[in-house]
Amino acid sequence: MAPSLRCHPTTMAAACFLLLTLLLAPAPADAARALTPRGAGAGAATKAAQQGGNATATAADAYLAPHNQARAAVGVPPLSWSGDLATAAGKIVAQQQRQGGCAFADMGASQYGANQGWASYRASPGEVVASWVAQGRYYAHANNTCAAGRQCGTYTQVVWRRTAEVGCAQATCATGATLTICLYNPHGNVQGQSPY
Ligand SMILES: *[C@@H]1O[C@H](CO)[C@@H](O)[C@H](O)[C@H]1NC(C)=O
Ligand SMILES: *[C@@H]1O[C@H](CO)[C@@H](O)[C@H](O)[C@H]1NC(C)=O
Repeated sequence: MAPSLRCHPTTMAAACFLLLTLLLAPAPADAARALTPRGAGAGAATKAAQQGGNATATAADAYLAPHNQARAAVGVPPLSWSGDLATAAGKIVAQQQRQGGCAFADMGASQYGANQGWASYRASPGEVVASWVAQGRYYAHANNTCAAGRQCGTYTQVVWRRTAEVGCAQATCATGATLTICLYNPHGNVQGQSPY
């Protein structure tokens, strides 16, 4: 499955207001291996963590609350916040920021699930997560399928029952565009499995 890059930040058209993608779901064989959080190194503060006050807790809740609202809606236990995953996400968005344009990161080799959101403006965490959750309208749980021509993968990662923790970060580029990434452990979207 190719990433759902309906349009790319570097070829931004008027219609490309908010772009979302789900990067490649790991192969089923990968999914069987034990997943443990990588010990993320210190230092890569996220933008959100730099905003003053108790920004870490505030930013965490801004991402976490809409995730857990969507999970509760389908009877799935809440995620907890992982500082290590947030640090890892912060490093990725910082690198994408340095490379210019805050383009999507290639997360194909990551052991974690990864939802990404690109916006041409400073999108709030809640807005980005809401856009992932909004894919749920195309998802049919009864037969675990997504409506033809639609993407449901960012939604199914949000509500994936086995996923226990999430950490997110956002970078803002000189253009004002933002790249937001959430990492999920254990990852969801295992082929052939229903999220819940
Ligand atoms: C910030 O919030 C976190 C989580 O609620 C808490 O553990 C921490 O003590 C708070 N830090 C400050 C400086 O208030
Ligand atoms: C799955 O279920 C939905 C909702 O009932 C239906 O619209 C869709 O056609 C079904 N898809 C498949 C592949 O059976």
